[in-house]
Amino acid sequence: MKLSTKHLLGIKDLNREDIQLILSTAEQFKEVLQRPVKKVPSLRDVTIVNLFYENSTRTRMSFELAERRLSADVLNFAASTSSSAKGETLLDTVNNILSMKVDMVVMRHSASGAPHFLAKNIPAAIVNAGDGINEHPTQALLDAFSIKEKLGRLEGLKVAIIGDIMHSRVALSNMYLLKKMGAEILVAGPPTLIPKYIGEALDVRVEYNLKKALEWCDVANVLRIQLERQNQPLFSSLREYNLAYGIKRRLLEDLSKEIVIMHPGPINRGVELDSDVADGPYSIILNQVENGVAVRMAVLYLLADREN
Ligand code: CP
Repeated sequence: MKLSTKHLLGIKDLNREDIQLILSTAEQFKEVLQRPVKKVPSLRDVTIVNLFYENSTRTRMSFELAERRLSADVLNFAASTSSSAKGETLLDTVNNILSMKVDMVVMRHSASGAPHFLAKNIPAAIVNAGDGINEHPTQALLDAFSIKEKLGRLEGLKVAIIGDIMHSRVALSNMYLLKKMGAEILVAGPPTLIPKYIGEALDVRVEYNLKKALEWCDVANVLRIQLERQNQPLFSSLREYNLAYGIKRRLLEDLSKEIVIMHPGPINRGVELDSDVADGPYSIILNQVENGVAVRMAVLYLLADREN
């Protein structure tokens, strides 16, 4: 089987079969990653550039490790130390890199739509590693993989996405993916951080009461408050946000059932998530990070396979 798309720009463009193919291929790569020798020759002679115009720890390192585990040749680009700081355009930068016989581009950019623009103007396959407030497709894929690994299925599960929905590419990609795979979605948080009409537009539930959201769900995916994307204050203070919407151990212990806690990272400890929850028994946060490598191996392998 092959993916239906040449690029991975967003979950919006994938069909259910694409998602199933990526998740089942990732299962095979996860098995490879448990072996003493964690490397396979699948992408030998393929060269990949990791083009990061915005800060990242998990995604950048996870892509690089995935590429190296597949035996690809890897180039790393950080905008702050490149000639883009001298005014070179995105397209000039990428065309110059591609002229060095680079086959695939993994890109993170603060502008929503930047990878879509590139896809229209360059011949190489592009993987979106997060574009502005639009999509973060590999995060949603690794989240789905981690939920399935923990609970055995996606179909019929109730997933609450909690916090700064307004500025979150993780939220949008998760909503697209989980809806396609038959899960029910609820978004929760203060009204100022939830886009108006999201319920109707994306066919999701909206809940402003944290306790009710937690009582409803099987899985709570807690989002980072993205202060860097807020032009004006959207809640009174971080302390008050924590009091109203922070996930606390006591809240989880008072629920009628056990739920799974996820977070894409980086965490604002003591704001959206208390440390004893982030590091506690309900959390699968580090499993998400671990699974990111296998999921990104699957994405790169399947896109390269489509090229052949
Ligand atoms: N989850 C995520 O995208 O983290 P980074 O910003 O560290 O890559």
